[in-house]
Amino acid sequence: MGSSTFLLFSYSVVLSLATLTLSDDVYFEHSCNEIRGNYTANSNYQGNLNSIVSHFSSLTEFNYGFFNLSAGVSPDNVNVIALCRGDLDQHQCNTCLNYTATELERFCPSNKEATAWSELCLVRYANRDMYGMLENDPRTCVYNLANASNPRKFNQALSRLLNDLKSKAAAGGPLRKYAAGNATAGNLQTVYATVQCTPDLDKRNCTTCLTYAMSELQKCCYGRIGCRVLRPNCVCRFETNYRFYNQIAVPLPPSPTTSSPTSIGGNRNN
Ligand SMILES: *[C@@H]1O[C@H](CO)[C@@H](O)[C@H](O)[C@H]1NC(C)=O
Ligand SMILES: *[C@@H]1O[C@H](CO)[C@@H](O)[C@H](O)[C@H]1NC(C)=O
Ligand SMILES: *[C@@H]1O[C@H](CO)[C@@H](O)[C@H](O)[C@H]1NC(C)=O
Ligand SMILES: *[C@@H]1O[C@H](CO)[C@@H](O)[C@H](O)[C@H]1NC(C)=O
Ligand SMILES: *[C@@H]1O[C@H](CO)[C@@H](O)[C@H](O)[C@H]1NC(C)=O
Ligand SMILES: *[C@@H]1O[C@H](CO)[C@@H](O)[C@H](O)[C@H]1NC(C)=O
Repeated sequence: MGSSTFLLFSYSVVLSLATLTLSDDVYFEHSCNEIRGNYTANSNYQGNLNSIVSHFSSLTEFNYGFFNLSAGVSPDNVNVIALCRGDLDQHQCNTCLNYTATELERFCPSNKEATAWSELCLVRYANRDMYGMLENDPRTCVYNLANASNPRKFNQALSRLLNDLKSKAAAGGPLRKYAAGNATAGNLQTVYATVQCTPDLDKRNCTTCLTYAMSELQKCCYGRIGCRVLRPNCVCRFETNYRFYNQIAVPLPPSPTTSSPTSIGGNRNN
């Protein structure tokens, strides 16, 4: 998905508690949950899952790139949470969700619960409620093998930038919790970063999630010129001398809104 050759050859994945496997696309990471149950081919669960995934390429609502979807009735109900990076438009978002969800089903062909991150979006599905819940697993960290020339100075500038972005994203409201920005990190380097929470998290849980992500980033990405930390409810990424996001995001409505995101495709019965 729009990866450059340079990045393809220089990224490395750190495995965490969950089993994560790297596929051909370096930007695609996934985790199949082996504990929370399996479904069989042609089961109601699979039908419900497919009914949601098959709609991703043609969603007509944009919802600022966040979706809380469900299909089927207990015990075969499927809940899906999907999040596009905050700078995408609807077409880019639909394309990413279709790709990521389709690949996730392919890699986890029988797991009721699974999570995937690709460059531009995140997809989770499960046979349980996930909405608004801050979760720690699965998670991973993917970094560029190249090191900054002055890791200490680079890290100071990066930390300031990420702290600033964390506050902005957490304050983003119920529709979108995303922030992007850049900072000068010595030696004529500019570091670009994005941070984002799923907007079902409240401000406090978003702050907590990004704080965890940043402390992981300190360990896993220290001194690296590029890195991504991927968690169930929040993600952050930085790159050096490469603005990987669109400067202009689809604008949010002008006034603070009290409406929560619509749950499209909800409560579909089999
Ligand atoms: C689901 O299937 C996998 C093998 O594909 C197995 O390792 C796992 O134990 C199963 N999980 C449950 C909850 O039955
Ligand atoms: C959805 O994604 C899959 C996997 O990348 C792809 O094969 C399929 O053509 C996509 N569907 C649409 C309608 O774009
Ligand atoms: C924050 O996350 C925790 C853990 O999932 C959850 O129990 C709690 O309800 C969340 N807080 C709010 C205000 O949504
Ligand atoms: C970057 O730094 C790490 C840790 O100091 C080191 O193990 C690694 O070999 C360095 N990578 C390159 C490409 O120099
Ligand atoms: C860097 O961020 C500033 C705002 O802090 C913005 O005005 C500027 O356009 C950004 N530069 C690039 C190259 O994205
Ligand atoms: C999100 O989806 C869950 C599961 O279907 C549902 O219970 C909940 O009401 C939805 N929340 C919102 C705000 O749409």
